[in-house]
Amino acid sequence: MKTYLITGVAGFIGSAIAKRVLENGDKVVGIDNFLTGYRREVLSEIDFIEGDISKVEDLEKLEKFQIDGIFHLAAQSSGEISYEKPEYDVQTNALGTLNLLNFAVKQKISRFIYASSMTIYGDVEDKPISEDICKNPKSYYGITKLAGENYVSAFSDRLNTTSFRLFNVYGEGQNMENLKQGMVSIYLAYFLKGEPVFVKGSGDRFRDLIHIDDVVDIWLESVNLEKSFGKVYNLGTGKKSKVKKLLEVLAKSWGDEKYPIEYADYGTSGDTFGIYADISELERDFWKPKIDLETGIDKFVRWVKNR
Ligand SMILES: NC(=O)c1ccc[n+]([C@@H]2O[C@H](COP(=O)([O-])OP(=O)(O)OC[C@H]3O[C@@H](n4cnc5c(N)ncnc54)[C@H](O)[C@@H]3O)[C@@H](O)[C@H]2O)c1
Repeated sequence: MKTYLITGVAGFIGSAIAKRVLENGDKVVGIDNFLTGYRREVLSEIDFIEGDISKVEDLEKLEKFQIDGIFHLAAQSSGEISYEKPEYDVQTNALGTLNLLNFAVKQKISRFIYASSMTIYGDVEDKPISEDICKNPKSYYGITKLAGENYVSAFSDRLNTTSFRLFNVYGEGQNMENLKQGMVSIYLAYFLKGEPVFVKGSGDRFRDLIHIDDVVDIWLESVNLEKSFGKVYNLGTGKKSKVKKLLEVLAKSWGDEKYPIEYADYGTSGDTFGIYADISELERDFWKPKIDLETGIDKFVRWVKNR
């Protein structure tokens, strides 16, 4: 049996990974400060420390555990919120990541997997984006996620690191109360409240939408996959989905194809117009994500309706 530290364990992706690790018969140690995560997501089987990864003294509370690998997901993870208090992003996303890397070296924890983000690319051309293009993050969030990723790469001489640049992850477990984080959950929250969907920016914007189950499958596979050590991957589906197409799929799955939609004539600061992933590297070492948009949205809508 192995023990994995999951930072951000009370959040959307961290809690989904924790569930799978436990299902596989391994153990989870978790840390979270409940910035956006929820205590109810921290399962009783998890050895949990309420703490802040930007504080070395909080990470020291984890020293008593024998840890085999780290899944690092804790972050301020909204581009929009990053403008409200940019220092927080620097402290958590950049300094917190550096602290955690130092912790891993000190504790001789060799495996380190990092949640990077597609926001590090900034504005790009309308074509599949490969890992090696120039990075020009626009949002304060993207800047600090890139700093975190660069720290991780700098430690790859001492640790077995892997960074996944996550595109838009959606699905069961996503926060339905936070209207500043998560494109799919934000739109679906309007359906849930029975209000017109309020869309900031054009319906022609496009994203690469990947279901949470595909993300969890690939993260868990990577733990012991030596060829992924020291590497950075785009983690998306490789498919381009326009916002208006996403809204159509959501409305159909919700059961009301004429659901009202209102477009604002302004967008969100730091938002890129469109991006989708070149996933050749991912396919070479793993596989192509399996869940298509219609199936993934149906799963998510069912979960939202049955909550
Ligand atoms: N969801 C996506 O589409 C997406 C896309 C790209 C990258 N990511 C990255 O994936 C990771 C997880 O994202 P998510 O969607 O689950 O977001 P989330 O907000 O649900 O989870 C982040 C968790 O980190 C915790 N946290 C924040 N600051 C902390 C701190 N200083 N110390 C300890 N815990 C702290 C929060 O309370 C929360 O539980 C993040 O690193 C994010 O940048 C997510």
